Amino acid sequence: MISQELILLIRETFQLNWKGVHGVSHWARVRINGLLMAQKNGANQRVVELFAFLHDIKREADFNDPLHGERAARFIATLPDDLLGIDYKDKQILMQACHDHSKGFVEADLTIGTCWDADRLDLGRGGQRPDTRKLCTEIAKQPGFYEQAYLRAIYQHRKQRNIATVQKWKPVL
Ligand SMILES: [Fe+2]
Repeated sequence: MISQELILLIRETFQLNWKGVHGVSHWARVRINGLLMAQKNGANQRVVELFAFLHDIKREADFNDPLHGERAARFIATLPDDLLGIDYKDKQILMQACHDHSKGFVEADLTIGTCWDADRLDLGRGGQRPDTRKLCTEIAKQPGFYEQAYLRAIYQHRKQRNIATVQKWKPVL
């Protein structure tokens, strides 16, 4: 679990709309995606959970902000290990996961790939189906898992836009 102290710090630090496209509901779904994957593939659950709440923390814009991951990594470097609840080695993994999360890489350490996929699987919140070629882990590409994550994300998209029905879509192979 993320401590209340860390949540308060995140709330103070995040400069965009808390309820926006990169806000708290996105982080909550990234956390769910990541923890469900980690339970199956053995990725580090603590790092995955921290990634969910920190990877977009230093965004300055919802779109076209290519350096936000690097800023997140620098921010994490300033946080005490005991506030994060991780050791030095896992902190380095968390920082790398945040630093590179929006660069489109598909090859990574298992925990880092799980973090990236947890985020990419939530693209449905913008009405966009994630491209399975841009996922890193086997679990994220499994049709059942992928579909459940998409449904969680598209639900948010529909709710925000008051869309009653989901458009028919074709899977991206
Ligand atoms: Fe994200």
